[in-house]
Amino acid sequence: MPHEKIIRHGAGAAMLQDLPKMQQMAAEIVKAVNLPVTAKTRLGWTETNKPIMEAAERLQDAGIAALAIHGRTRDQLYTGQADWTLIGEVKNNPKIHIPIIGNGDITNAQKAKYFFEQTGVDALMIGRGAIGRPWLFKEVKYHLETGELLPPPNVAQVVEILREQIRLNLEWKDNEHTGILMLRRHFAKYFPGLPNFRELKIKLLRGDTSDEVNCILDEIVDNFGSYQLDYSISNIL
Ligand SMILES: Cc1cc2nc3c(=O)[nH]c(=O)nc-3n(C[C@H](O)[C@H](O)[C@H](O)COP(=O)(O)O)c2cc1C
Repeated sequence: MPHEKIIRHGAGAAMLQDLPKMQQMAAEIVKAVNLPVTAKTRLGWTETNKPIMEAAERLQDAGIAALAIHGRTRDQLYTGQADWTLIGEVKNNPKIHIPIIGNGDITNAQKAKYFFEQTGVDALMIGRGAIGRPWLFKEVKYHLETGELLPPPNVAQVVEILREQIRLNLEWKDNEHTGILMLRRHFAKYFPGLPNFRELKIKLLRGDTSDEVNCILDEIVDNFGSYQLDYSISNIL
């Protein structure tokens, strides 16, 4: 997400307005470290200014090892659809030899396969689609490898995954309150299409401790354990 605070200083997405500076900065970083340096950028600044091709060539010249491209402009923020055509054009530019990673709007395995095959990118990057669906990566991998679709988990299975995410997050944060606060935005995304979810959602969002949240998850499993969630509903933010 392009942050105003960062853009005001000419950094982040603002560098798309000054490609020589972007190149110079990337080259300095590459020179200063002994690790491969990768970059990630949007297509450009506005609908009429999408210098991604020149940006990709310049970043490659600067020694960048791989480039991830989010198929939107800065002005779009998260509106509209990601433009994978331009990502494909960069990938298929004969001058480009570094790996190109495509990013934007991958919310299910079929879309991943379609974008992957349509553009020939070297890798896919998934953001919002994995919120409330962290097994999406497994679904995508399976579909790319076999052409088949994994069956979606039922509510009881989804709750087990969410419990694991809570456990790992609390372990990582080492502070229960901060850990739970961080997770709140994820809770509702786990249950697309659950009937009468509003009340349970409010309870989940009010839970202050993992015990409280786990009690509400018990209630969800007791009432809807075998229910099949509706993954045709977009879970994007
Ligand atoms: C909560 C959140 C945090 C993000 N943080 C970053 C970040 O730190 N750096 C970055 O390059 N992109 C960041 N992004 C953008 C994503 O990496 C990605 O480019 C964007 O969400 C589009 O991909 P998607 O449609 O799969 O979500 C963030 C996105 C979200 C929703």
